Amino acid sequence: MSRVSYINGKYCDHVDASVHIEDRGYQFADGVYEVFGILNKKIVDYESHLNRLFVSLKQVKMQSPINKKAYLFHIKRLISINLINDGLIYLQITRGVAERDFKFPVDIKPSLVIIAKSFQKNQYEANFSKGIKIKTTKDLRWKRVDIKTINLLAPVLAKQHAFEQNFDEAWLIDDEGFVTEGSSSTAWILKKNVLYTTPLSNSILNGITRQSLINGLKKNKLKLIEKKFNIKDIKNSDEAFITSATQYVMPVIQVNNFKIGNGRKGKYAETFKKVYMEAIKLS
Ligand code: PDD
Repeated sequence: MSRVSYINGKYCDHVDASVHIEDRGYQFADGVYEVFGILNKKIVDYESHLNRLFVSLKQVKMQSPINKKAYLFHIKRLISINLINDGLIYLQITRGVAERDFKFPVDIKPSLVIIAKSFQKNQYEANFSKGIKIKTTKDLRWKRVDIKTINLLAPVLAKQHAFEQNFDEAWLIDDEGFVTEGSSSTAWILKKNVLYTTPLSNSILNGITRQSLINGLKKNKLKLIEKKFNIKDIKNSDEAFITSATQYVMPVIQVNNFKIGNGRKGKYAETFKKVYMEAIKLS
């Protein structure tokens, strides 16, 4: 059976699923999105992701095209039709289709697209065992990256810059030399058994994986400090990690040309993965 996606009230063959050329997402990146992880057919931290979607909608002054309950129905249906065991749901809402004009058009319905994608679970495990490499680069994004908008050109360029030099992810550096976050993930370092991550502000996304890991750390009485860190701190760190809805907890073994710890997955990686997996809520 072919892959099925949801688009504006209809389920259709993924290859035929398309939006109009004057969709405002296409012309202005005028939209918001969410990525939900799927583990064993269950949606990871569903409520938190949905709540963040509604916060994003409010911030950009958009209405949800469907009611809250309908999201769960469509996402579950896509997981089932596409036989997803482990993978992700990508959900995007744009302001809709209208003749190009910077001002909001009146009386148009937002466009909603939902895509389901499978992952090989053993691929995650393989990456987790190996760890990933990070390249730092300047944070060139706009000043409201706490809103999960589809305005992603700066992170696209950052990730490509990293990828072209054989790195897996980019860590973005602000004007004061501190890491804000990854191009599509939250950044963490560990020093003397204390985990550090950037405090919440308009300069980072409030990661749902970040929230769940922090809840798990608190339950397990593991020490965490929400504090900015720079290249020097990274060089002095014992371990490093990224987190996201698609990478869960992923160890970092190298940043630029220097190795983290002994250049292999550190001893806390398994602990944090376990703490996270125990902390997540599955719907
Ligand atoms: N990105 N920071 C940024 C800039 C992100 O794009 C993401 C997620 C995160 C982690 O957030 P969460 O834990 O809620 O996934 C942090 C998703 C996965 C993406 O754009 O594909």
